[in-house]
Amino acid sequence: MNVLWIYAHPEPRSLGGALRDEGVRTLRELGAEVRESDLYAMKWKPVVDADDFGSAAGEERLIVGATSKDAYHSGELSDDILAEHEKLAWADTVIFQFPLWWYGMPAILKGWFDRVFVKGFAYGVRHPDGHTLRYGEGALAGKRAMVLLTAGAPDATIGPRGVNGEINDLLFPLQHGTLWYAGMSVLPPLTVCGADRVSPEQYADAAEALRERLRTLSTRDPIPFRRQNDGDYDEDLVLRDHLAPGRGGIGVHTA
Ligand SMILES: Cc1cc2nc3c(=O)[nH]c(=O)nc-3n(C[C@H](O)[C@H](O)[C@H](O)COP(=O)(O)O)c2cc1C
Repeated sequence: MNVLWIYAHPEPRSLGGALRDEGVRTLRELGAEVRESDLYAMKWKPVVDADDFGSAAGEERLIVGATSKDAYHSGELSDDILAEHEKLAWADTVIFQFPLWWYGMPAILKGWFDRVFVKGFAYGVRHPDGHTLRYGEGALAGKRAMVLLTAGAPDATIGPRGVNGEINDLLFPLQHGTLWYAGMSVLPPLTVCGADRVSPEQYADAAEALRERLRTLSTRDPIPFRRQNDGDYDEDLVLRDHLAPGRGGIGVHTA
């Protein structure tokens, strides 16, 4: 197993840092090859700008999507982006670890996706018959992904009726709109709640939960998101009436 661990936390001596160390150590003990992208340690540049696309960018190209695709195919992307592409191409499994900040990922990780998941590399790939590959198919299909996050909110508040909402709803933009969109199979996330006040016993439980999830990385069933091109959606990519009848919202996209 080739595992890429994407880590977005500014402080290595944090709970997140301890879990990262535990996770990487566990994977190596299990015989996996592990590479890391420690975004703060790398001083990852989190904003897309014209420098990402070579010297010609910005003058004649106005649409970022088109720019990134052209840049990818012409090899003009900046070296830090290309290095992440090489790691992703190498990996069969990717762990995305971050603290929940304002219901989402820290900006540095959002900027990693903005700059690394460019057209032609992570999306915008077509089948020979012309249809666009996305949501379960595409450039990163065959790879597994798992989100590992810490959250200050207590366990009871993150759930179907908890005030913070259900975790897979909070993670829908990342798990469905980004990872599954690019073709990756997304394993259920591991969330450590109440992360601002963790006793030694709670830390031991969290570390064991993480080890268990890492032991089953290659066997656990992914979230059964619906595939775009398997017939569940009509030509406008709207879920057909007979599926999840009378229901709407995020949940209907999981079979
Ligand atoms: C800027 C910021 C925003 C946060 N937003 C949330 C939030 O939306 N939901 C939540 O449960 N916790 C939130 N928290 C709490 C963090 O998730 C928590 O402090 C962190 O996961 C603890 O792990 P650490 O000690 O490794 O940083 C936030 C913390 C910060 C600093």
